[in-house]
Amino acid sequence: MKVLIHNSAELAQQSVADILVHRIIARPTSVIGLATGGTMEAVYDKLIAALSDRNAPVDDLVTFNLDEYWGLPPGHPASYRSYMNARLFDPAGIPQVRTNLPDGDATDPIVESNAYEQKIKDAGGIDIQLLGIGQNGHIGFNEPTSSLASRTRLKTLTESTRKANQQYFDGAETTPKYAITMGIGTILDAEECLLLATGASKAEAVFKMIEGPLGAHCPASALQLHPRATIVLDAAAASTLQLLEYYQYVHPNGLDKHPSHA
Ligand code: GLP
Repeated sequence: MKVLIHNSAELAQQSVADILVHRIIARPTSVIGLATGGTMEAVYDKLIAALSDRNAPVDDLVTFNLDEYWGLPPGHPASYRSYMNARLFDPAGIPQVRTNLPDGDATDPIVESNAYEQKIKDAGGIDIQLLGIGQNGHIGFNEPTSSLASRTRLKTLTESTRKANQQYFDGAETTPKYAITMGIGTILDAEECLLLATGASKAEAVFKMIEGPLGAHCPASALQLHPRATIVLDAAAASTLQLLEYYQYVHPNGLDKHPSHA
């Protein structure tokens, strides 16, 4: 695991946007896995600016999002499809036909999940998967005790996840209870994983992910198995790491001198 710690959330977000734009310029046909959540909002703002500043080609990209609420039509304002259209695809000019999210309207989530896996395979697999982390250590919507070998499927959301996401809905009643999410096995199949966590509320999950035992109690700890996982943090999210000084010694101020090495 490569652990890059920046002094501020803004620097951490910028470094994630820079890594993505660098990959897109190097390979304009990249297949990129995308994430949602509050953490990604500033990343996408910075990515849009960087793509435009560097005149990066986006017409041939293919994207796959991690997850979508089940039971929400794609046009619902709080769907992840709406989030992605508004925050990245439309402003960056990424053609919507090349963007993929699970269909939250699917009547049969098993059929939809299997079709999503197949689409990822048909696209040649994901080159780089962007990830956030839930306060309980979830990635995508793989809640604690998800199988570390899981594939795309329907998951029941925990109360803590529903509470964290309630702000985007009218209230507890209307906050979805289910989501279709890539599995942990699906995520681990990506050639490279790039996780961003900012703020003190993520510090405990970050500690378990990086330094805790590998296990389903913290789904993000599965990234310990990935040969090319980069974790980008701000100082607050990194604050409880026991080997903090070591990470800072290897990558002072989050500087990555050898971006191609894990
Ligand atoms: C959601 C998403 C995750 C995201 C996480 C953290 O539940 N499914 O992909 O990483 O929550 O969200 P936030 O960035 O808002 O803390």
